[in-house]
Amino acid sequence: MTQIELRGVQKYFGAVQVIKDLNLKIDDNEFIVLLGQSGCGKTTTLRAIAGLETIDGGDVLIDGKPVQHLKAADRDIAMVFQSFSLYPHMSVYENIAFPLRATRKSKAEIDSEVRSVAKTLQISDLLARKPSALSGGDMQRVAIGRALVRRPKAMLMDEPIGALDAKLREEMRAEIKRLHIKQGSTTIYVTHDQIEAMSLADRIVIMHEGVLQQVGSPDEVYSRPANLFVAQFVGSPVMNVADVAVAEKASSASVTVGGAATGFEFPRALLSKLNGHASDKLALGIRPEGVIVRREATEGFLPVEAQIVEPLGSFDIVDLKVGSTMLRARTRSGFVSGPGVKVFARIDPAQAHFFDTASGKSLGVRL
Ligand SMILES: Nc1ncnc2c1ncn2[C@@H]1O[C@H](COP(=O)(O)OP(=O)(O)O)[C@@H](O)[C@H]1O
Ligand SMILES: [Mg+2]
Repeated sequence: MTQIELRGVQKYFGAVQVIKDLNLKIDDNEFIVLLGQSGCGKTTTLRAIAGLETIDGGDVLIDGKPVQHLKAADRDIAMVFQSFSLYPHMSVYENIAFPLRATRKSKAEIDSEVRSVAKTLQISDLLARKPSALSGGDMQRVAIGRALVRRPKAMLMDEPIGALDAKLREEMRAEIKRLHIKQGSTTIYVTHDQIEAMSLADRIVIMHEGVLQQVGSPDEVYSRPANLFVAQFVGSPVMNVADVAVAEKASSASVTVGGAATGFEFPRALLSKLNGHASDKLALGIRPEGVIVRREATEGFLPVEAQIVEPLGSFDIVDLKVGSTMLRARTRSGFVSGPGVKVFARIDPAQAHFFDTASGKSLGVRL
């Protein structure tokens, strides 16, 4: 049972504040992913939890007890880094056994625990090898094994597979997930890769410039982004965002994108939900799958021109010129034959998001 809590954590490097009033509660057994661009403070946050970095304000609590005054060794937290930090002169066996050598465990106990961890990680046949004779993926398996073997209260992983090639990353991602399901330990995993975050996390914590932007399940951060930063950080290709003007029509609302001649049709309910929000500070967000494309003129669809067609294998991304802006739509492969083709588009109101352009905050409007 391990819960971790950050309460109002502040961290400065010199005059620069790199963690700004961070509050976060992590449940026992939870797999939390800290997601954000390079330099946003992810590693510093992990190091502060592990006790490798001091904090300048707030509390780090483990199972309800403040630990910010405890040394790293007294916090019982294991950390796995991106660089494979194995002892080069030791065998895989000795690398994994190392954290247990300092304990009072017998040789037989240590042997049984090393072999059990090796079996879980499917590296039993590598125990006699030196790290230099291992692939990158196997080196990282050993590093994870060394962290797991002492059954820490929590596992912190800092971009543990970031240095591997794409295919191996995918494989290791699935393995880390399987391991977590099997071993069940409170895990905080750092990455700048949103796909990795979506696939691993129980909850994702999105950070930007030291400030927590949103905490939620992968589905929540994808379908209900709290602000423009999250909206455009999660999802690939990114969500379309355009300044819009909303006007009242006879039986509907009209949403004009990029100053186009005609607006997209929305249910009238939009007007009351926007509650008179100043139109000059209103942005529409729509993911490519929320832009619906037809080849024939259809009621409620606007005529638009395809500018670029990007075939991505199982689907295409088509850039559509709407007024002075470009909306990217996701279509079936080959649905729009090429640039210059005239098609008809509609925005699915149920998938539309509205943001305040000044604060960047979502207005929480759902239709
Ligand atoms: N030891 C340090 N001294 C000074 N600045 C640091 C130090 N470590 C990190 N920083 C700065 O703090 C910010 C956050 O860094 P970091 O936590 O490593 O970000 P991330 O892991 O998200 O890439 C960055 O601007 C980085 O340059
Ligand atoms: Mg980092």
